Amino acid sequence: MVTVVSHPLVQHKLSLMRDVQTGVKEFRELAAELSLLLAYEAMRDLETVPTRLHTPIEEGEFPMLSGKKLALVAILRAGLVMTDAIVQLVPAAKVGHIGLYRDPATLQPVAYYNKLPTDIAERRVFLTDPMLATGGSASAAIGFLKEAGAQTIKLMCILAAPEGIAVIQRDHPEVEIVVAAIDPRLNDHGYIVPGLGDAGDRIYGTK
Ligand code: PRP
Ligand code: URA
Repeated sequence: MVTVVSHPLVQHKLSLMRDVQTGVKEFRELAAELSLLLAYEAMRDLETVPTRLHTPIEEGEFPMLSGKKLALVAILRAGLVMTDAIVQLVPAAKVGHIGLYRDPATLQPVAYYNKLPTDIAERRVFLTDPMLATGGSASAAIGFLKEAGAQTIKLMCILAAPEGIAVIQRDHPEVEIVVAAIDPRLNDHGYIVPGLGDAGDRIYGTK
């Protein structure tokens, strides 16, 4: 399942991120703000339980989060800006990191780091990466999560290409994708077109 968050605030912020004139500071802030808006949608089906408490006026039952605990997992580097933002909404979530970079020649993901919560099997996992291009990185990361025992995984991205979505649907059909927009295609270098460029480089100012 793919959920495209077509809210005007999301689309406006994404357009600002696309703009080549947008500098590092603003790009990073926009990525964080967009991540909060995506999380709002991705976490729509979290369970709540009526909980008795006292307001300053009277006692009553009010919904509080319940059910499985959460894990946020970033695909390094660029996914980090997303988990850093989202953990402010769900501060009890544990945070994992999967280090992957795309080999520029083969476009295949190369793994260099993997540190996940030990109880990930008991948690709902929200995997973050701003870009879903060929889908190689996200598919490999989901594979690592499953090897570690993760049962329920949602993939949160800012921008996707149809090729990447097809790869996730082929390799991990049970994983829901939440994304701000799906662009038409990839170019010969595996970049999303029109896209927003290299997300990691724009977040960290490395280009
Ligand atoms: C980018 C992006 C994804 C990956 C997407 O990472 O953040 O992880 O490319 O491409 P794919 O769907 O074709 O695998 P990159 O390899 O540039 O690493 P970085 O985040 O460390 O810059
Ligand atoms: N990774 C990026 O950062 N941008 C793309 O367009 C494709 C992969």
